[in-house]
Order: sequence, then structure tokens, then C-alpha cells
Amino acid sequence: MNKNILADTVSRLFTDSKGLLAMDESNPNCNKRFAKLGILQSEEVRRDWRALIVNTPDLSECISGAILYDETIRQKKKDGTPIIKAIIDEGIIPGIKVDKGAKLMAGHQGEKVTEGLDGLRERLKEYFRMGARFAKWRAVIAIGDGIPSRACIEANANILALYASLCQEAGLVPIVEPEVLMGGTHDLQVCFTDTEQVLRTVLSHLYVQVVMLEGVIVKPNMVITGLSCPKHESIDEVADATIQCLRQSVPAAIGGIAFLSGGQSGELASAHLNAMHVRYESKLPWPLTFSFARAIQQPAMAIWDGKDENIKMAQQALFHRAKCDKAARQGLYYAAIEDPVFLSN
Ligand code: 13P
Repeated sequence: MNKNILADTVSRLFTDSKGLLAMDESNPNCNKRFAKLGILQSEEVRRDWRALIVNTPDLSECISGAILYDETIRQKKKDGTPIIKAIIDEGIIPGIKVDKGAKLMAGHQGEKVTEGLDGLRERLKEYFRMGARFAKWRAVIAIGDGIPSRACIEANANILALYASLCQEAGLVPIVEPEVLMGGTHDLQVCFTDTEQVLRTVLSHLYVQVVMLEGVIVKPNMVITGLSCPKHESIDEVADATIQCLRQSVPAAIGGIAFLSGGQSGELASAHLNAMHVRYESKLPWPLTFSFARAIQQPAMAIWDGKDENIKMAQQALFHRAKCDKAARQGLYYAAIEDPVFLSN
């Protein structure tokens, strides 16, 4: 394990108040998002969408790293430039999603375990040669009647730690993503308790596998009420619960924390991240940033609508969200930023 490479990648990913852009939806997931907007679903259209993102002017002002899917890391733009080269030339560090998806867990109805360890060592070597410097593995934990079970949490945590260890061996910083899903009627306290239990279990497995904590990025959900819960907490309450939960479960040695958005709107995700920085900046033991997919991409994708004539406007929308998230990391995001008049100044 080359500790210097890992430490250097972590520090570059958190530099200058920037964050990460997750553009690593699997083909079925990407197609689902296209289908919802009536956009054609094909390899070529997925390529065009990812090229639109990568070609967004000045994206590297706000984005330090971009997480790719296997299809994208091998794709070329229409002009023949490999997408990964375009990313590196823009000054953005390429990362790669390496899990093979969450599959139904035998004997545990409603729960999933993420697969993809077979052949991972060889795949990581290849991705490193291609230029990737970090990786992502997503485990999903659902909240519901009697779940999550201990079995589901332990299985996913163990696999996350094995993945993290293999990544570090290959010189890639592992993003460890145990996502407690937002779906459900549960309240904030339930999300808090389950997220805390999940994170503590993941961290204990990282210890057992002797993973270098400084070379790990944890990608958690924010602590938030279930989507179907009638009561919704204020932005400050979500920020307080999230920071309290993380401080109780993630040691200071961890390289950093980069949140997923989990289905929150772009505005809400920015506002939550902002409140965490405004209220806790000097008390955070790790750097705290964003690693959003939907909260950055969704408005831009709707504007694009699969049409060339909308590319410029879609790129402006994408850049706007990235800029809001960078502002949130500095505690400088406020609702007026969303005003188009403010934007043009
Ligand atoms: P969302 O921000 O859309 O939750 O996606 C983040 C991610 O990378 C999921 O693996």
C-alpha cells in the first residue's frame, strides 16, 4: 500500500472547498432517469449526457473528483477524446464505481447485500492504469418493519471493509458508502439510531481489516426523516442530528466525509450542507463535503431533454448546482443564490 498516494488523493479531493460529482449511475439506473424525462435510452445517449457534464465550462472550480461508471470510463466523446482524458485535462480526478449492485439478501426479506468482490483486485489494477485514483462502493440499508437486521448491517459492513482494503492495496482511495435509504415513514430519531449503528459497524470492520483510515472517504446519508413521514424537521435540526451522529460514530482519523443526496432536492441538500458548516465549522474533526448525483444532475438533465440545442443551458444549470454546493461547504450558501438575477452578476 502506498500511503502517500492515498493521502495525496484525499487531500486533492477535499481541496479549496470543492466536492465530488457522482455520475456513475449504472446503465439501468441512468436509463430509468432518462425514461422519466422521456429521453431516449441508449449507450450513445448516455455517452452524450456524460460528455455534456464533462464539457461544462469551469466545472473544476467546484468539482475535485468525478465518479464514473465502467461504461463511461471506456467511452470516447464524439470528437474521439476519451472521456477520462477530458476529465483529467479539466483538472478533475477520475473515480470509478466498482460494486456490481445491491442484490436481494437470502433469508432477509426487504434487505439487500452489495455484490462485486469477485475479480475486484484485477479490475482495480486496470482502473488504476486507466487513470482512476479513487473508487466507490455503495451498500443500501432500508428502514422498515423490523429492519435493518443485524445480519444485513454486518454483511454489508464486512464487504465494504474488504473492498476498502483491496482499493488501498491498488493505490485507490475507497469511498465507503453505506446508504441508509430515505424511503419510509420513520422519523428523524429512527434514522439517527440506524445510521449510527450502521456507521459504527462499518468502522469496526475497517479496523478489523486494518484499513488506513486517513486514506478512506466515508459517504453517508444525512440524518433526515423518511420521505413519507408527515413531520419534517428544520434545516438546522437535520444539520444538528447529522453532525451529532457522525461525531459519535466516525473517528477523527478518517480522511473525510462526502455526503450523498439520497433524493433530496438540490436546494435542500445545499441548505443542509451549508447549515452544518455554519453551525459546526470549527468543531468538525474531518473535512465535510458533497458527493451528490441527483442533487447536482437532475435539473440539468431535465433542461437538456436529450437535445443538442439545450446543452448550453443544461451546463449552466449543472454548474449552478455545483457552485451552490461549493458555497455550502464554505457556509456561504443562502436561498438568494438560487435567484437568476443574483446568478447573472
Ligand atoms: P445521490 O446523490 O443521487 O443520492 O447519489 C449519490 C450516489 O453516489 C449514490 O451511490
